[in-house]
Amino acid sequence: MKMMSLLCFTLITMTLAGSQAMSTNATPVKIFAELGANVTLPCRLISDDTMFFGNTGIRVKWTKVQDDESLNEDVLVSMGFHRRTFGSFEDRTFLQEADKDDASMIITDVSMDDTGRYRCEIFSGMDDVVQEMILEVEGDSTDGVVFPYSPSVSRYTLTFERAEQVCLDQGATIASHDQLLEAWKGGLDWCNAGWLSDGTVQYPITKPRAPCGGSNNGPGLRNYGRRNKKVDQFDVFCYATALKGRFYWLVQPKRLTFDEAVQACLDDGAEIAKVGHIFAAWKLEAYDRCDAGWLADGSVRYPIFRPRKNCSPTEAAVRFVGFPDKTQKLYGVYCYKSN
Ligand SMILES: *[C@@H]1O[C@H](CO)[C@@H](O)[C@H](O)[C@H]1NC(C)=O
Repeated sequence: MKMMSLLCFTLITMTLAGSQAMSTNATPVKIFAELGANVTLPCRLISDDTMFFGNTGIRVKWTKVQDDESLNEDVLVSMGFHRRTFGSFEDRTFLQEADKDDASMIITDVSMDDTGRYRCEIFSGMDDVVQEMILEVEGDSTDGVVFPYSPSVSRYTLTFERAEQVCLDQGATIASHDQLLEAWKGGLDWCNAGWLSDGTVQYPITKPRAPCGGSNNGPGLRNYGRRNKKVDQFDVFCYATALKGRFYWLVQPKRLTFDEAVQACLDDGAEIAKVGHIFAAWKLEAYDRCDAGWLADGSVRYPIFRPRKNCSPTEAAVRFVGFPDKTQKLYGVYCYKSN
């Protein structure tokens, strides 16, 4: 129903625009999609002049429009049989082509990061068309994500008190046993033991193997039991809830040192993102980007929601590059802007 009325709106706008050589609809339509679903952004060539029908010279260009147009992202271009998709839209967008005037684009596996303004341009040689629309992606805000955390020094250096603080520093809280159990059911497999909020030390194994509590034991939570909170040192499992702001890759031209990365986010009216932010964006917003970026704790990571060649090919994960030398200009940066 929603799609039908959107389409009608588009048709009317298009008909009105028909006589102008190039025109943009003033108030872009809003299209809503659920996280992870497929969505169609409507766009079509309307002309009563039948000479266009079957015209193979028609070129279609889809762009994601930013406030600063110099930062616009190419999404898809099509000319005749040639198709190209770009960046995070690669292999995930295609033209619907219900008929030969249809330039509507389907985006599969919609992520929160796809939210924004899109422009469709059809160059037919005569009646060129420009259409804009806004895509809003609606996520499930009830969930959270559990992630293991180990500081830069080395693993197993956190007392319970430090463990609680480390999670807070990452925009998260120390995870409970139930939260870790849910994460394990969801496939979390991690072979380093971490503190939980009840003072126990455990780790989740879905693929049993010898060094991780034995290959004869079945999958499950390996439990070291209650440990001495003041003395014993382990890693920690943290829990981050849905973001109340926006996690994003800062589009800027060069590679940065850590200090430059911190400043670049501030200059953008944001802060450098924390580890909890990247995990929440990845798990709860399907955020996917194959670019390594600095985070607030001095680590470098990148979130892959759709595994693919050269970008975490075997599993969806937040990839950990390490805690590199902070003066190296080798990475970009992820920022976080609270609402
Ligand atoms: C989205 O589209 C893809 C490709 O056409 C299809 O394989 C997939 O099942 C669709 N997903 C949903 C949720 O409809």
